[in-house]
Amino acid sequence: MAKRKVITTARPAAAKVIGDVLRNHRSLNGILRTTLLSLPENERGLCQLLCYGVIRWHPQLQSIADQLLPKPLKNKDSDLHALLLCGLYQLRAMRLPEHAALSETVNGCIALGKPWAKGLINASLRNYQRNQSSIDNKALDNDVATYAHPSWLIHQVKQDWPEKWQQILEANNVQPPMFLRVNQQQQSRQEYLNQLAQNNLPASTVDFSPEALLLDTPCDVYLLPGFRTGAASIQDAAAQQVASILKIEPQQRILDACAAPGGKTCHILETEPSNEVIALDIDPERLTQIKQNIDRLGLHATLKAADAGDTDSWWDGKKFDRILIDAPCSGSGVIRRHPDIKILRRPSDIESLVNKQQQLLEKLWPLLKTNGLLVYTTCSVIQLENEHQIMDFLTKHTEAEELHLSPAPASRRIAGYQRLPGDNTLDGFYYACLRHRQA
Ligand SMILES: C[S@@+](CC[C@H](N)C(=O)[O-])C[C@H]1O[C@@H](n2cnc3c(N)ncnc32)[C@H](O)[C@@H]1O
Repeated sequence: MAKRKVITTARPAAAKVIGDVLRNHRSLNGILRTTLLSLPENERGLCQLLCYGVIRWHPQLQSIADQLLPKPLKNKDSDLHALLLCGLYQLRAMRLPEHAALSETVNGCIALGKPWAKGLINASLRNYQRNQSSIDNKALDNDVATYAHPSWLIHQVKQDWPEKWQQILEANNVQPPMFLRVNQQQQSRQEYLNQLAQNNLPASTVDFSPEALLLDTPCDVYLLPGFRTGAASIQDAAAQQVASILKIEPQQRILDACAAPGGKTCHILETEPSNEVIALDIDPERLTQIKQNIDRLGLHATLKAADAGDTDSWWDGKKFDRILIDAPCSGSGVIRRHPDIKILRRPSDIESLVNKQQQLLEKLWPLLKTNGLLVYTTCSVIQLENEHQIMDFLTKHTEAEELHLSPAPASRRIAGYQRLPGDNTLDGFYYACLRHRQA
């Protein structure tokens, strides 16, 4: 049997990853992590940029590729197809010397074990170089290619945000900034800001979240001072707003029902480390990520792999002062961080997610003490998952009262608060805080 060639350069490695996401619907983060480890260090940055860039702009690049190829490539050549998209992305969006970008991309065919395709990839990319403006005009004559989103999602966003749909779609295509959460148990935000400056990592404070810092330029987490010993974590400032909405006090029993990878669990504990926090997640593998995070930060929580809605399987009968449902959702507010959402999500997912969210609200609400708070959040901009979900719940539960938050964490909606992606450079997020009043 022919020995498989090890890929050691960025372009063919990226083509393999992208081909796998497009063809087999695998999640980008998972495969990219393993691929990067297999590459020499100096190839990793380019590989990552290509993977994110091509997946982010896929509908646009695809529309251009359709004009260049004499006939579609076979399924088994999805890696070659992805290599062509990598070539187009470099020519359109990256400041690389064009001849090098082109020849290195064409050479990627050899690393993929398909030298016969060199002529085809070379001819397609050269054709694009020669005729870019006429090809672009033809390829980008529709919303799917222009905004680089699937048509069902464009339709949904237009319907929910008729005046802001373009702004939302454009924000989804922007490379996101890197926010940090300073561990307030170790030092103040100002002290950490000074440490970052001493390490040539300039950053600034963020108004909405008391522990948040925005780095001027994203960097490797291990360059952050004290990262290994829990000085700071990576978390968008929109997600950091959740801890203040929970109004955490000492001596509370708190349920984080959908907790992995544990960003909010850790923030809750950093605020009051002595509280009893129970963190659940349905996915045991993702639960191990919470463990790694709380260990790094030197915190403690009870972790359980369970379906939060199946309360018989995990609940000990003692009610909670606070419940956080950071619900499984479409992720339509964080597409800038996870562009593969545009490829992996299906329109039919929305209805099943809305049902899941409703079940979690119904099953967990009775576990809240009188006067306790349940905070419901999603990283979605789809109203069925957000304000309609909460309106529906409030209509059914007269013992539930929605709290008007001051300061408002985002724009007020008929129920709850919505931040759209890119508002103040933050992720898209929805927040609602419900109090259990005397029945
Ligand atoms: C938006 S993520 C949570 C992010 C997390 N709160 C954080 O801040 O890092 C949603 C999580 O809900 C989990 N999940 C989905 N359905 C669930 C269920 N029925 N019970 C518990 N967890 C569930 C998923 O595995 C996923 O990890």
